[in-house]
Amino acid sequence: IRLLSVASEMFPFVKTGGLGDVVASLPEALSNYGVDVKTLLPGFPAVLAAMRDTPARTLRMPDILGYEGLIWSCQIGENDLFILDIPELYDRPGNPYLGPDGCDWNDNGIRFAALARAAAFIGQGVIEGYHPDIIQTHDWQAGLTAAYLHYEGENVCLAHGMSRRPKVVQTIHNLAFHGSFSTYDRSRFGLPEEALSVDGCEFYGRISFLKAGLFFSDWITTVSPTYAEEIQGSEWGMGLDGLLRTRADCLSGILNGIDTSIWNPARDPVVRFPYIAGDVIARLSNKLAFQSEFGLPQDRNAFLLGVVSRLTRQKGIDLLPEIMGRLLKFNTQIVVVGEGDRIIHRAMSALQRKFPGRFACHLGYSEELGHRMQASVDALLIPSRFEPCGLTQLCALRYGAVPVVSRVGGLADTIVDANEAAVSRGVATGFLFSPVDPLSLAAATERARALFRSDREAWMNLQRNGAMTDVSWRGKAVQYVRLFAKLSGTEIVEQI
Ligand code: ADP
Ligand code: GLC
Repeated sequence: IRLLSVASEMFPFVKTGGLGDVVASLPEALSNYGVDVKTLLPGFPAVLAAMRDTPARTLRMPDILGYEGLIWSCQIGENDLFILDIPELYDRPGNPYLGPDGCDWNDNGIRFAALARAAAFIGQGVIEGYHPDIIQTHDWQAGLTAAYLHYEGENVCLAHGMSRRPKVVQTIHNLAFHGSFSTYDRSRFGLPEEALSVDGCEFYGRISFLKAGLFFSDWITTVSPTYAEEIQGSEWGMGLDGLLRTRADCLSGILNGIDTSIWNPARDPVVRFPYIAGDVIARLSNKLAFQSEFGLPQDRNAFLLGVVSRLTRQKGIDLLPEIMGRLLKFNTQIVVVGEGDRIIHRAMSALQRKFPGRFACHLGYSEELGHRMQASVDALLIPSRFEPCGLTQLCALRYGAVPVVSRVGGLADTIVDANEAAVSRGVATGFLFSPVDPLSLAAATERARALFRSDREAWMNLQRNGAMTDVSWRGKAVQYVRLFAKLSGTEIVEQI
């Protein structure tokens, strides 16, 4: 099976969240099952810089929405890449979506329409010798791909020597971001007039790239089974639940995995005292070092809680201030590493001033601190209001940080609550709470702290169960392979 994966982020070049991690780590897992994956990315500076040291071929494309179509084909590390090089659109430093003022670039519509346009050209067979069977489009940034393929029909593919049009799988990593743009730009996006209809790309009087992907794709996946259910309801459907319900027979949830070679506490280059699961001494040394890195008292008995997260409403970090006094009781310390909304930044700084020596934060993006936190904290807090999958709880399981999470989306699917039954059966891995409000969060944290204090053995059992949980891509990649095989009509029985 030949898969073209189309995305706006890929770790380590460009990453604003879990999307970048998934786009980077899924291909290798798929390749173990014989799927040949190529990833199409915009030519952001970091991507082009990474390409500089590798042999790359240029491929000429047709004109892309008024820009010269130039694609680089290269291999960086294990990943086979197509890089869409349009400097006018992508040669900008920093965040892939936001300008230096923290606002969306005002030409994001054309920037990501161009990405999808290039993907559709590749899907139509314009690169000689490369005819993908499946195109996986990630989030709104790649959403228009399915629309172009639909409006231009199968004949374009046949004219390029393909046997048929590739199937499109639209993957939802986060339904909250629609990629919504003015209908005035329809012709700039190269869409026909009929695209401005309910049975097209139109969504409440605008053009929605994600809706286009959900409407025209052959299959829709999202990143956990529970989120696949949640988005079919009005509370979390973000206005698209009606459409998703009509497509329920081709919508499925496949959990994310993490790259267990990058997230490996025994070989993590930024962890001060690398360790294997169960090595209490090394983990304690990391905790003490982490406390001192954040200016907190080095105290092995303190209950150390961590947060590593985008600081947005989705993540529920704004629930913390109201209950901070209660959380910090009984020798508890909290460290937050995060970046996002300025209002939450200010709230975190205020907490740091109010609770010196007990609350500390790093307001910025730091991959290293993220790793060290996982290796150091006793428990990781994830109070998300909604969470399509979530990766930090998976890293936490692997690193022995016990997750305290809200019972939503992928968090509910990946963490087993330490209730009496689960503890006695030896399957508990963390603490779940609902509803998502300050009081339930405080109660779950207290439940965790009580166990940590009163029963170290039970606590270590949680850590052990977590470490034994399979957070890798293995089992999940198989589900993608089965889906791709079904859609493309490929026989795969022997390969799995
Ligand atoms: P989302 O994609 O919604 O942000 P995920 O849990 O799927 O949530 O993925 C978040 C990823 O980004 C994880 O790898 C996490 O460690 C990382 N991350 C988020 N914020 C930061 C930060 N401020 N510093 C370092 N890593 C971060
Ligand atoms: C999104 C979601 C997150 C998910 C990630 C990767 O950013 O918010 O829950 O883990 O994508 O799929």
